[in-house]
Amino acid sequence: MRKKTLTICFTNNKGGSGKSTTCSNVGAAMAMAGKKVLLIDGDMQLNLSLSFFSEEEVLSMAASEQNLYAAIKKQKDLTDFIVPTPYGNLDLIPSSTLMSSIEYELFTKWQRELILRKCLQKVKDAGIYDYILIDAPPTLGGWVMNILCASDRVIIPVEASPWGMFGLANMFEFLQEVRGIAPELEVMGVVVTKVDTRKNYFKQTLEILKEMPDIYLFSSYIRVDSSIEWAQDSSAPVVAFKKNSRSAKEYQALAEEVMERGSR
Ligand SMILES: Nc1ncnc2c1ncn2[C@@H]1O[C@H](COP(=O)(O)OP(=O)(O)OP(=O)(O)O)[C@@H](O)[C@H]1O
Ligand SMILES: [Mg+2]
Repeated sequence: MRKKTLTICFTNNKGGSGKSTTCSNVGAAMAMAGKKVLLIDGDMQLNLSLSFFSEEEVLSMAASEQNLYAAIKKQKDLTDFIVPTPYGNLDLIPSSTLMSSIEYELFTKWQRELILRKCLQKVKDAGIYDYILIDAPPTLGGWVMNILCASDRVIIPVEASPWGMFGLANMFEFLQEVRGIAPELEVMGVVVTKVDTRKNYFKQTLEILKEMPDIYLFSSYIRVDSSIEWAQDSSAPVVAFKKNSRSAKEYQALAEEVMERGSR
């Protein structure tokens, strides 16, 4: 049976807010729950790709033509760029360090905000995947506009810090602009990451976010946990690497919440 594919991107122009960690673990948790998931690494830092493959494998895919940059540059159907990860139900389109020049590549193209959406259309129409999750870089430009225009929903991971909150305002302004081109794009919610419960600042962050009108704050938040770093060191998502760790359970709960909200 053909599935209805929901495309969700993880964006925030604030660097290090947990986008790649959240994208990889929500995706892996969905796959472990029996959903068919495609992950797309939209960042030249290759962090989403490194969540599933060794440095050597990622660099080899980046140097080959088997990556997102090569596909976007030539405006090709993304179907041919999908690689299976070592986990069942979970596929990936890897990135390339050449993504650093993607803005330049897009500049002269017709309808340049919609190139990723067009390249992804056949994958969506094939109805193979329940979810497509896209990891965005920490910028707000033409490429992130492409990622947002290719998505049905956006999730914003936020770090509980004063500068994390400051960056959020820019993010919402940018989303307002994107809605001019992609009016059907919805913010699914904000998720607080890298929480240190010993610090009171985190409670204040949650209070501020809860009071923001029209913004859903995910009830699952992700605490600081060294298991995440050990998992990343082993090129694995923590939900698979250390299933019983606190962060694995938090990411499983977040994935449930995302699937529940996605079904509305
Ligand atoms: N819950 C956590 N506990 C401990 N470390 C974490 C946690 N979440 C993320 N990290 C670490 O914080 C750093 C930033 O996380 P991540 O790469 O997911 O953020 P990002 O928003 O994708 O960053 P960028 O903006 O550079 O793409 C990484 O080194 C990651 O290992
Ligand atoms: Mg990242």
